[in-house]
Amino acid sequence: MSKIKFTIITLFQEALEPYLNTSMMWKAKDKGIAEFDFVNLREYGLGPHKSVDDTPYGGGDGMLLRCEPVFNAIEDIKKKDPNAQVILPTPAGEIWNQATARQFAETEGAHYIILCPHYEGYDERILSIVDYKVSLGKYVLTGGELPALIIIDSVVRLIPGVLGGETSAIVESFSDGDNIEYPQYTKPYDFRGMTVPDILLSGNHGEIAKWRAANSKNLQK
Ligand code: ADE
Repeated sequence: MSKIKFTIITLFQEALEPYLNTSMMWKAKDKGIAEFDFVNLREYGLGPHKSVDDTPYGGGDGMLLRCEPVFNAIEDIKKKDPNAQVILPTPAGEIWNQATARQFAETEGAHYIILCPHYEGYDERILSIVDYKVSLGKYVLTGGELPALIIIDSVVRLIPGVLGGETSAIVESFSDGDNIEYPQYTKPYDFRGMTVPDILLSGNHGEIAKWRAANSKNLQK
């Protein structure tokens, strides 16, 4: 069994697949660390047009995701895995952060269902089957697909075996609170007159560590 599984309920699987088949997400899948599954919400749509949305009671613009297709899709997934937990990307959710990503990554054998809403929003009663409401920030996107990719990427890369060096996820930005990592340089030493701080070429690991600590940026400040 993979260490983590994501089942993504979406109308736009084709928007998600290229990213999940690329680079680190592909590698995580290839190594059996992460599993990505898709459920086409349209298959649970109602009537001859397989409709998944309708107009809001009380009036107003746009269409809302209906309860029936969503509940039926989630209940079908949960029949196979009753422990799967449901994530709903929504601007009304808790702001996603590194600590939560780490918590998700550390839950061995976890299965997350990500429900990607589209249109203007969703029927409020859908929240009764949601475990986590997640916001990516104070702006509004057209759907849950981009948030789903961000959530998946930020979690999967923290699972041991996904990144090259086992320490890179630990050392880097945000890991100890809200630190943004120190400046880094690679070759050449002199690029168009911009040179690398000499301390980094000194070989003195104690001094280098001190320089890096002093030059780490902190989100709080
Ligand atoms: N759906 C639309 N906007 C969103 C946001 N900012 N975060 C998460 N889901 C969203």
